[in-house]
Amino acid sequence: MLSANESGPPATRSAAGAPSPALAQQGAGGPLGPGRPHGGRLVERLLSPEEAADAAGRALELRALPCDSRTLSDLEMLAIGAFSPLTGFLHHEDYASVLQRMHLGPAYGGILWPLPVVLPADPEVARDLRDGEDIALAGPDGSLHALLTVEGVYLRDLEAEAQAVYGTADPSHPGVAITLAQPRAAVSGPVRVFRLPEPAFPQYRLTPAETRAVFAERGWRTVAGFQTRNPVHRAHEYIQKCALEIVDGLLLHPLVGDTKSDDVPAATRMHSYEVLFAGYYPRQRVLLAVFPAAMRYAGPREAVFHAICRKNYGCTHFIVGRDHAGVGGFYGPFDAQDLVLQLAPEIGVTPLPFQNAFYCNRCGSMATEKTCPHGEEHHVSLSGTRVREMLRQGQTPPPEFSRPEVARVLIEAMREH
Ligand code: ADX
Repeated sequence: MLSANESGPPATRSAAGAPSPALAQQGAGGPLGPGRPHGGRLVERLLSPEEAADAAGRALELRALPCDSRTLSDLEMLAIGAFSPLTGFLHHEDYASVLQRMHLGPAYGGILWPLPVVLPADPEVARDLRDGEDIALAGPDGSLHALLTVEGVYLRDLEAEAQAVYGTADPSHPGVAITLAQPRAAVSGPVRVFRLPEPAFPQYRLTPAETRAVFAERGWRTVAGFQTRNPVHRAHEYIQKCALEIVDGLLLHPLVGDTKSDDVPAATRMHSYEVLFAGYYPRQRVLLAVFPAAMRYAGPREAVFHAICRKNYGCTHFIVGRDHAGVGGFYGPFDAQDLVLQLAPEIGVTPLPFQNAFYCNRCGSMATEKTCPHGEEHHVSLSGTRVREMLRQGQTPPPEFSRPEVARVLIEAMREH
């Protein structure tokens, strides 16, 4: 039986396979670290090593449903408790409620949850599944990872889903394009994960229980979470350090699941964070760990989702700047921030909202319009496209935009590709 979830001793392991010391200490007193998880407790769906061995054997006898890399990321998030309180892929009732009202259905007490977590399936395959049947979930390479007890199969209206989640059904939006390309059937039910996906960046792959244990060990009572899918430029560094002035610690938590093809690859980003850390961050006040979710580019709804997940990792505060999780011109620059501020009491973390940050030549420092009285002509501002162009040509962007150490990592990576 699954033991890490509702009751009994916690049974998760770290991604590397070793028993999680954090959970070993956790016991009945609830999770370590500051702040309570979403819904009150961490809901982990990763089996203990003994249970996992049994489940892996059992999976070989079952029908296997293939999952793409994004679904596999969701499975990992469910396994490690980052999606607490979810126990598996959403039932139709929860799915419909999330789309319409941004809240789960009655089975989850109607708690705030902004994005659907679904298991897409070929309708031909889904039609044959029976409620109560156990199936195996396979990754894109065919390796088996989890058992799922089928509790319903339904058809999604993909256009309506895109409209609700992304605010548009325009296929030029990368999240919409992925949604529209998925099979329409969805399989719902709780999962029991016996094998996590092969961990990229194993030394940085901490579960929510593990980040909580680090926070507790370091005595951090307040922790700001920082979501990013980009190399850290001066604007990011500025808002992180503003946050560090008021909280005990910072969780720098780059997303390393699937991103769109023109985003900087996760390995390059991780390298850039390492050089930045070595030179400019107080090590004892910052924890670098990876966030294994896939990027949706859903702007406001995804910002709420990012904040809830970081709450599960133990953050008490969450940084939301300009165009959080946005793409192209699909969202207003502060739409995401506005929604996070509006829902903050339900999210249960304190938002740290930031205006657009830039370097001002007259101030001689980083600033935002809240702190700088000078006109735009004094601000160093470069578009993402211009920066990419410079890096591709081997040119270092001005140090007011990017630390030279970070620029060097990015230039080198571009040369290699
Ligand atoms: S995101 O898609 O993960 O949000 P990105 O990595 O660029 O993209 O942003 C990480 C965080 O920094 C987000 O909260 C975003 O709003 C914020 N941010 C990025 N650039 C700026 C900026 N120039 N000024 C203020 N906030 C910013």
